[in-house]
Amino acid sequence: MAIDRIVNTAAADETDDPVEQEFENKLRPQDFANYIGQDRLKQNLQLAIAAAKKRAEPLDHILLYGPPGLGKTTMASVIAHEMGSQIRITSGPAIERAGDLASLLTNLQDGDILFIDEIHRLHRTVEEVLYSAMEDFKLDIMIGKGPSARSLRLDLPKFTLIGATTRTGALAAPLRDRFGMIHRLEFYNHDQIGQIIGRTADILNVRIHPEAAHELAKRSRLTPRIANRLLKRVRDYADVNGDGIIDSTISRQALILLDVDDLGLDPADRLLLLAIIDNYKGGPVGVETLAALTAEERSTIEDFIEPYLMQIGLLERTPRGRKVTPKAYHHLGRQSQLAEDAAGATRNSLL
Ligand code: ADE
Repeated sequence: MAIDRIVNTAAADETDDPVEQEFENKLRPQDFANYIGQDRLKQNLQLAIAAAKKRAEPLDHILLYGPPGLGKTTMASVIAHEMGSQIRITSGPAIERAGDLASLLTNLQDGDILFIDEIHRLHRTVEEVLYSAMEDFKLDIMIGKGPSARSLRLDLPKFTLIGATTRTGALAAPLRDRFGMIHRLEFYNHDQIGQIIGRTADILNVRIHPEAAHELAKRSRLTPRIANRLLKRVRDYADVNGDGIIDSTISRQALILLDVDDLGLDPADRLLLLAIIDNYKGGPVGVETLAALTAEERSTIEDFIEPYLMQIGLLERTPRGRKVTPKAYHHLGRQSQLAEDAAGATRNSLL
């Protein structure tokens, strides 16, 4: 896992670090007014929430998908706050047995929100319990074993399920079909990330110059979780090497030390791109081969490294595998194969 990357997008609760969790919780916006970005999603949700409230009904089940670190959990807590509901937060891998889910569901109250992160990692047997729970608010349980076994249907409170996943493709169709709303979280733009850095700096009482905030925003992979982590590290640097104020010199020096370049790439990104360039002349090459070459897990490459590289146009996914773009060659200071071929042809014609 790429957990030790500064630009790592794993959530704090995936790292089991209580200090990091507290840090993330402190920064989470509570309501739509303080949630920066994702404007279309916010508009859709605001409408759905207003309609549900007007009809005094629970909100439809919602599936949020997109790369890690873009605010799926935060958005779920904002939805709960705006509905005036309680939220229970869990994750696919944490629900090991159908009985665990039954216990979660029977402890909910009408209108509560159940948030399941990484819902694509639910066990199949657990997932099947969700079908009738989502559709009819019923829980089917088996009592006893063998010939005397019988099934029992229990009424459940009228809850809303919010599921989050990095990949909708990994979700079984019957589960996906039971969500009334399916929304993708988009990468943020530099301006929005700059605003998030400003907001976080205010909360943490950090003084940061606007040029430094802009510099950090450019290197945050368009991802709030990374922006906030970089800010924290740069604050450390400013406290130790300066007077605590983050200006552009301090932020640039700290980012050099962190080995995060001006597009926000870290060594793991560069290793991946260079593996394709140096070993496969820029690709295409299959992801399994890349996993072996870079000693990263396939899921780490797919979930944490590739989405941003594709978003900024350094990498392409094609049916035959991954390919780097001319922009990647340029960024890494390498000549592309095309340019090399052209230079070779010119050399030959001059000989
Ligand atoms: N902190 C992390 N994500 C945020 C967002 N989208 N808006 C405001 N603050 C945030």
